[in-house]
Amino acid sequence: MTKEEIEKIAPCLKNGPLSELGMKLIEEVNQIPKSISGDVLKTWLTYYIFRAKEEAFKKPGDPTNEILESFQKQTEFIKSFNHLDLDLFFTTSIEEKSRQSIEEIESETGSHYGNLFKNFDADKYFNEATELLKIRLERNGIFPDDISSKTVLDAGCGGGRYSVAWKQLGAQKVTGVDFSKIGIESAKERLKTVDIDVHYQIEDVVNLSFENDSFDIVYSNGVLHHTRDCRKGILEIVRVLKEGGMGWLYLIENPGGYFWDIIEILRIVMQGVDNQIAREALKLLNVPTNRIFYILDHIMVPINLRWTDEEIQDALKEGGAKNIQRLKRGVDFDRVEKIYQKEPFAEMKYGVGEHRYVFTK
Ligand SMILES: C[S@@+](CC[C@H](N)C(=O)[O-])C[C@H]1O[C@@H](n2cnc3c(N)ncnc32)[C@H](O)[C@@H]1O
Repeated sequence: MTKEEIEKIAPCLKNGPLSELGMKLIEEVNQIPKSISGDVLKTWLTYYIFRAKEEAFKKPGDPTNEILESFQKQTEFIKSFNHLDLDLFFTTSIEEKSRQSIEEIESETGSHYGNLFKNFDADKYFNEATELLKIRLERNGIFPDDISSKTVLDAGCGGGRYSVAWKQLGAQKVTGVDFSKIGIESAKERLKTVDIDVHYQIEDVVNLSFENDSFDIVYSNGVLHHTRDCRKGILEIVRVLKEGGMGWLYLIENPGGYFWDIIEILRIVMQGVDNQIAREALKLLNVPTNRIFYILDHIMVPINLRWTDEEIQDALKEGGAKNIQRLKRGVDFDRVEKIYQKEPFAEMKYGVGEHRYVFTK
């Protein structure tokens, strides 16, 4: 990868507090031969830095030094491996994965999420999502009137957790769509273990098959920033929303503080790493399923676009959305909630926090 390509994925490496040591880390990581052991090594160092960042964020002070220390430690660790010239250790060479065409990128996105969601336990998965959705609505003073008469589209439903959550909150009919075959199949399988009625189908959220004004509630949670055309996706979710209905859009944020800077650096570390090896490497460390999802979610997905509030609001307005409201609150672990609660150094850590919007049409 060229310096320009690296800085495009992680602009924080161009200048700023993480740039120098971040670049040193990447240079050392780039010396690791492509092999199974190399992929495991990269996953473990990613885990270490991810965790070090979380530990630093828990403390009330400026997290910069602790983050930099974790970069330094991992650079030294990789350097010692590279210097040992352990040919034997790296002999099981594997092919570098290539993602060139948009079809390859989309298929990789679908299987990345499908495989991450597949292992979730139904009960915990559904009940947790219902609780999170309820708190996010309540804390922002939102609750759709007469929910029992509402139809809901969960656009980019993944393993289906929020489709079920809307049903558990009392919605009349919920349709969950996703382009991941593995995701939709595992959502259907998981549904069999509970007595809940949700309809799941394969759809591309950037090009939905539904008529205009089809649903009372359109919910898109953490999806469109992974698509080939985020703007078109936003226009689509507004198009299928009924007039007077309620739209929900969650997209990742810009600016995003160290939280996203570190994820972007780790996206470079994990470039070309095999997804299955990454999941297995974390399982070896006894990392629970939901945490494997949380760690690999944005680090290993091919497209991870971060828009500003202005860019998102522009696209929503272009689609015809009205009364757009950016949600200031969330559950306790949401970044916006930490900003709302005025956690020390919150902006440095989290930028502006998640971009969550509700709107009408
Ligand atoms: C981070 S997951 C979020 C899943 C779910 N909304 C949730 O909150 O649990 C992103 C999902 O978007 C889906 N996705 C990405 N691009 C898509 C597209 N063009 N059409 C449909 N689904 C897409 C992925 O397959 C994945 O299931």
